[in-house]
Amino acid sequence: MNAILGIESSCDDTSAAVIIDGVLRSNVIASQKVHEAYGGVVPELASRAHQQNILPVVSEAIRQAGITKEQLTAIAYTRGPGLMGSLLVGTSFAKGLALGLGIPLIDVNHLQAHALSHFVKESETDEVPEFPYMCLLVSGGNSQIILVKSAVEMEIIGRTIDDAAGEAFDKCAKVMGLPYPGGPHIDRLAAEGNPKAFRFSKPHIDGLDYSFSGLKTSFLYTLRDNMRTDPDFIEKNKADLAASLQHTIIEILLHKLGKAVDMHHPKHLAIGGGVSANSGVRDAIAAFCAERGIRAWIPKRSFTTDNAAMVAIAGAMRMQPGERGDLSLPPFARTEL
Ligand code: KG4
Repeated sequence: MNAILGIESSCDDTSAAVIIDGVLRSNVIASQKVHEAYGGVVPELASRAHQQNILPVVSEAIRQAGITKEQLTAIAYTRGPGLMGSLLVGTSFAKGLALGLGIPLIDVNHLQAHALSHFVKESETDEVPEFPYMCLLVSGGNSQIILVKSAVEMEIIGRTIDDAAGEAFDKCAKVMGLPYPGGPHIDRLAAEGNPKAFRFSKPHIDGLDYSFSGLKTSFLYTLRDNMRTDPDFIEKNKADLAASLQHTIIEILLHKLGKAVDMHHPKHLAIGGGVSANSGVRDAIAAFCAERGIRAWIPKRSFTTDNAAMVAIAGAMRMQPGERGDLSLPPFARTEL
């Protein structure tokens, strides 16, 4: 039996998952509500919550998988990028457990894990993408277009030069007075609104890179200017504002993705990261791929946000026969792929 435990603690979700002989058997996620009151993730509170959650979450993942910890054959953990204090909790726990059980330890890059999340199988018959494929990774911290050539070889061909798509959702939601994180609230409101009611500025930058800071400013100015004459402007227009914002973010994402597809002609296109949970993004990607004859890989919502299932599969795919892992590797807060 090959039983890999994945551990994820890069930001504000503590997660553990077990993959047995290639099939996911458990994926436990403890989200941290403590940050809501602060309108964003507070790093010190995140690492404290990870410290409290990690043992129960890992124990529960092993229990739900129907095995004991002694039956684990390897541990994969997120080494970075992320918040250093958060990463230290998962890294130290993974190292201690691997050392105690005498089993190999595999370090995983969080961004690579997102890009490989489509390989998580919930049953043996689940299909997976074919290499090479293109991946649009859109989260609270990243907006990237990645060429995924293999489980270990990935090339970022487009990246954000300022805010990530998730930040655009969250920051605009915040100025509308919506709770943190705002992305899911915008998604919900957008379903009731007119996506063409308002126009916001779109970036004009060369190549495949993204920029979302201009949109944020344009959104803010629209609210400010209209509230001068109507203090209830936001309340009266919140569905249309949300729909128009979401529509503009999707147009920005698809514009560069279209260019990337024209340059690289992928047969498969995957999306990942928290923003790939957005209903509008999912529909737009499905339509975009259908028009171009590309196979779309749209993750289940449970695999869009940070989760250890993707870490376990990335570890399993990266692991070389006989590899033991390096217990001396420190976590890293920032990196490319
Ligand atoms: O990948 P993720 O869980 O972690 C970080 O990178 O932080 O992404 C979180 C981001 C947040 O910005 C959140 O607002 C956004 O994903 N998000 C959404 C939706 N669900 C989560 N954005 C738009 N629509 C959604 N349904």
